[in-house]
Amino acid sequence: MPIQAMKYVWMNGELVPFEDANVHVLTHALHYGYGVFEGIRAYETPQGSAIFRLTDHINRFYESAKILMMEIPYTATELIEATKRLVDENGHASCYIRPIAYLGYGEMGLNPLTGKTDVAIATWPWGAYLGEEGLARGIRAKISSFKRHDPNIIPPAAKTTGGYINSALAKAEVIKAGYDEAIMLSGQGNVSECTGENIFIVKNGMLLTPSDASGALSGITRKTITQVAKDMGIETHEAQLLRTDLYLADEMFITGTAAEVVPVSSVDDRVIGTGEPGKISKELQRRYFQIVTGSDPAYDHWLEYVKG
Ligand SMILES: Cc1ncc(COP(=O)(O)O)c(C=O)c1O
Repeated sequence: MPIQAMKYVWMNGELVPFEDANVHVLTHALHYGYGVFEGIRAYETPQGSAIFRLTDHINRFYESAKILMMEIPYTATELIEATKRLVDENGHASCYIRPIAYLGYGEMGLNPLTGKTDVAIATWPWGAYLGEEGLARGIRAKISSFKRHDPNIIPPAAKTTGGYINSALAKAEVIKAGYDEAIMLSGQGNVSECTGENIFIVKNGMLLTPSDASGALSGITRKTITQVAKDMGIETHEAQLLRTDLYLADEMFITGTAAEVVPVSSVDDRVIGTGEPGKISKELQRRYFQIVTGSDPAYDHWLEYVKG
């Protein structure tokens, strides 16, 4: 899906015209992948554009930077205000939002501590990341031969730019093989996560999800779904899951800001449940869309309005 040009990109405190939002070819992060980013969505609601759990995403952005020992030269409040202003100036009712902090042009070499951190925020309209059909009918997933990197290699708790080579390798492998999304196992062989989504299975009326110790990112959509499920009286347990637990699940779905809540119809060609999106998955997906679009007042505290 090509990115659609927007009016502005926020770069180091300024709103820069889209076509001028460029970096030098000797930007440190381009060479060594030393950067952190976030993925956030704004949705159209009856009270105008609202950014879903913006503060939680910005807080995770700082946590990622802390893991990499990068200083972000703005406060969280400044970045929250900058994000709202950018969404407003770009005239989006709904959009995807990408804050990024990276070692910029100036120093080269592997010592990241001497570099200068540049910060940018971009926005663009982005539809269903795994396709409308995937959202409605479920996706076909395959376990990749690429393992998720572990906390002592590239900490998966940080959303690092370079770390996503791991996800991209897994994605390319399964797309080439004719599947929609890759599942990655940890070095120990337990289920970790997808390339940009957390995993849930439904088993005997409960939700099971791999813990962060498996190398999964602590997803904000995962936390959202866990809370919504709890409010429906459904328990979630973090568990060490084997690939066979996925094959034998009653239902399965994956969660992420870009992908949203997507049912999984098969894993490695083993049909999950009936092969149709399951009852619990469908209900959680329905509630998720109600919440993010401002149609469920019980969760209004997760919506950060662009105006007001
Ligand atoms: C590797 C990975 N796992 C899981 C997720 C889901 O996280 P969230 O729900 O916070 O978007 C993402 C997306 O940020 C991701 O990149």
